[in-house]
Amino acid sequence: MFFRKNIKIESLNDCLEFAFRMLEKGASQYRHAFHFPALISGDPHGVEARIVILRSFSKQERYLLCHSDIRSAKIRQIQNNSRVSWLFYDPKKAFQLRISGKAKLHTKDALADEQWKTVRMTSRMNYLTPLPPGHALDSASSGLSGSFSEKVMNSLDKDAGRENFALIKGRIENMDWLVLGMTGHRRAQFSWRKEELKASWVVP
Ligand SMILES: Cc1cc2nc3c(=O)[nH]c(=O)nc-3n(C[C@H](O)[C@H](O)[C@H](O)COP(=O)(O)O)c2cc1C
Repeated sequence: MFFRKNIKIESLNDCLEFAFRMLEKGASQYRHAFHFPALISGDPHGVEARIVILRSFSKQERYLLCHSDIRSAKIRQIQNNSRVSWLFYDPKKAFQLRISGKAKLHTKDALADEQWKTVRMTSRMNYLTPLPPGHALDSASSGLSGSFSEKVMNSLDKDAGRENFALIKGRIENMDWLVLGMTGHRRAQFSWRKEELKASWVVP
């Protein structure tokens, strides 16, 4: 039996259920630590990590969703190599969760349309830069053209920016679970192959 503030773990199943609860909260609560994972992707040219917002999580289908500009480096990387990793950490619980699996990109389908509807007007501005994310600028700027009110008006046009919107849907194939504790840490690993779950405690 392992206790840490608000975490009571007696079995591998407890670990898994705890991780799923944290992901559910991360996807639904703006201030939750799991709302801001690092998404890691790589191709033969290198590996990159960046913070994204966890938009949705499905326990049944085991996937994670985040949004991105279709013109960004991460999209090119995922097109080259669909294997990605997600890194979560809650400092209050000293809980780290690493997830990896294949990611799919959705741009012009019903799922992307459905997610686009959830993007707030103020956030739609992010998809309106004439130049792609990462493009060099002569001086510090939001990259948006025109005045602020014009940008807001543009984003009020409900489909302005839609062509630059992409959805990253990551499948949960492997999970590495770690809680730090004063009396020793606890670590477990989970992997799903063809829906069959393998779970094991491992040395932290
Ligand atoms: C708190 C926070 C949340 C972010 N959320 C997202 C997001 O949901 N999607 C996204 O593409 N970028 C998000 N970003 C920006 C990325 O971290 C990154 O700078 C950008 O996507 C460009 O990354 P790339 O060049 O590797 O594609 C966020 C940044 C911060 C600090």
